[in-house]
Amino acid sequence: MCGIVGYVGQRPAVDVLLRGLRRLEYRGYDSAGVAFFRGSKIEIQKSEGKLENVEKLINQFPESAEARCGIGHTRWATHGKPTTQNAHPHRTGHVVLVHNGIIENYQEIKRDLVHRGHQPVSETDSELFGFLVFEKMESGKSLKTAVAESFREVTGACSVVVMSEKEPGTVVGVRNGSPLVAAVDPKGGVILASDAQPLLEYTREVVFLEHGDLVLGTSSGISFSDLKTGATVSRSTSVLDWSPAALDKQGYDHYMLKEIFEQPSAMVDTLNGLLDRASAESFPLAAQPAVELLNTAERIVIVACGTAWHASLMGKYWLEKWARVPVSVELASEFRYRDPAIDKRTLVIGVSQSGETADTLAVITELRKKGFPTIAVTNTRGSTLAREAQAAVFTNAGPEIGVAATKTFTVQMLTLLCFAAFLGKRRGQSADADEIFSQTLRLPHLLSGYLDVRSPLRQAIRETAKKLLNLRGFFFIGRGYCFPLALEAALKLKEIAYVHAEGYAAGELKHGPIAMIDQDIAVIVLAPNDAWREKTFSNLEEVKARGAQVLGIGNPRDESLRKVSHFWIPLPEMEIHESLIPFVLTPVIQLLSYEFAVLKGTDIDKPRNLAKSVTVE
Ligand code: AGP
Repeated sequence: MCGIVGYVGQRPAVDVLLRGLRRLEYRGYDSAGVAFFRGSKIEIQKSEGKLENVEKLINQFPESAEARCGIGHTRWATHGKPTTQNAHPHRTGHVVLVHNGIIENYQEIKRDLVHRGHQPVSETDSELFGFLVFEKMESGKSLKTAVAESFREVTGACSVVVMSEKEPGTVVGVRNGSPLVAAVDPKGGVILASDAQPLLEYTREVVFLEHGDLVLGTSSGISFSDLKTGATVSRSTSVLDWSPAALDKQGYDHYMLKEIFEQPSAMVDTLNGLLDRASAESFPLAAQPAVELLNTAERIVIVACGTAWHASLMGKYWLEKWARVPVSVELASEFRYRDPAIDKRTLVIGVSQSGETADTLAVITELRKKGFPTIAVTNTRGSTLAREAQAAVFTNAGPEIGVAATKTFTVQMLTLLCFAAFLGKRRGQSADADEIFSQTLRLPHLLSGYLDVRSPLRQAIRETAKKLLNLRGFFFIGRGYCFPLALEAALKLKEIAYVHAEGYAAGELKHGPIAMIDQDIAVIVLAPNDAWREKTFSNLEEVKARGAQVLGIGNPRDESLRKVSHFWIPLPEMEIHESLIPFVLTPVIQLLSYEFAVLKGTDIDKPRNLAKSVTVE
């Protein structure tokens, strides 16, 4: 996902920008660039590929060391391919900007700009913002006013940092969704970035901008104002007094929490590894041995354990719907001792975060030896599973330290979604593939907009956990995509909060477990706006009539769900294809179990009796 750094002050700006961008590399990117003042003119150097390419370009400008003001960016392509032309910073006349997030109404903006005689040169939504600022500055407005007014014309969650040759030595940033953090440089000046990492080298005192904040930095100081009203606002400084261990956790109280919040960047890195990002196709799997195996599969068996099994169950929904290929999802520990009726046209996929889970490994090793086509989907390069399977596909979530799987669940789902959509396109069954693909690319941005430690969503989850804490038991129910999520939610709650929870297909409850329902039982109903919502709603009424404490989780505008539920967690507002809703719901169910565990005081990162990698059967 895109990373932003901006600097004005006494230090060599290009050095600050490049060091900052290095610290943001973990977010994933496919092009990079910096812009810096040479006198009163702004020089831009950018390139597709890695930051090293930009450094080589910069080295040709020894005078860049003199610059004291600049902005830098790592881009992960959503609108337009990962080319140098689409890389940031973008220039419109004297205005130069970097942008992180999505401008949703970019098509209307572009149409109006072209109508007014402008010619954008990139395929990005970001560049358009520069035209808006440029027009306003040309009519005499200051950079700050022009940025604020331009922002009022765009919709979507994003942040920008802008400079202009008309106001050398000023950087203006706005946060309206995607995070932006600012700090005063103790040596004089201001540094801005997408997260606190690039700032920590210079100071521990940082300001996390709120949604709708505008920040103006010069070498003599910093000021904040409200984007809508223009009124000056004061923002308190957080002192990031992080020990080396906390620094490793980047200030989060637990690795699990950090890893929940890392899901957007884990998605970016996974998509970067999985897809041919230069292709204009949707869901273009990068050429690799697994692709041929997928293409020729007449049937698929997925084997996994625990959370990986839940992700695989989700994969079945997409694979069957789009690729029209029969899929069975098997618990590896059961499958290995069965005598399954499968033939060599069956592709066997082993899904495992660690790649060392004994049962999953045993199935893949044995079937590969018998000549079955096998694929490993794993987060661990060099793992035994990756070596044993005929082909390996890697989920690039980065290390997952918390024993409870979180970000690896998301990227396992994402990988299977890409397999399904890719095969669906090949087999002519996925009519919505282009739309789903563009939404998939935008998902990390959208998720990072609401996955914020201070977000109202997190507060709502925490408050709800407090109210439900002392109930006797918990059922998570859902249909369709929400069934595997219900299973995963219950597993998370059990493993880190040590409370009894079960996940059920909502329609199954009345076949037995409903006998347990009384006022001491919570039923957590996953009912987003999808094809199954009405049916799930009826199941909610059944348990409510029997006294259950009902927590509804659904669309923020679902008044009837809100009213019928005793407790209510609205999902973040976003227009999204229903097949992608699991990615929005997942952090919510993870955070719910996390908040329970915090209240219970359990050892969240190392829950009792559990191991991160289960290498025994
Ligand atoms: C999930 O939170 C658990 N830690 C566990 O269920 C885990 O998913 C399972 O043991 C499988 O592990 P793997 O993905 O490494 O194969």
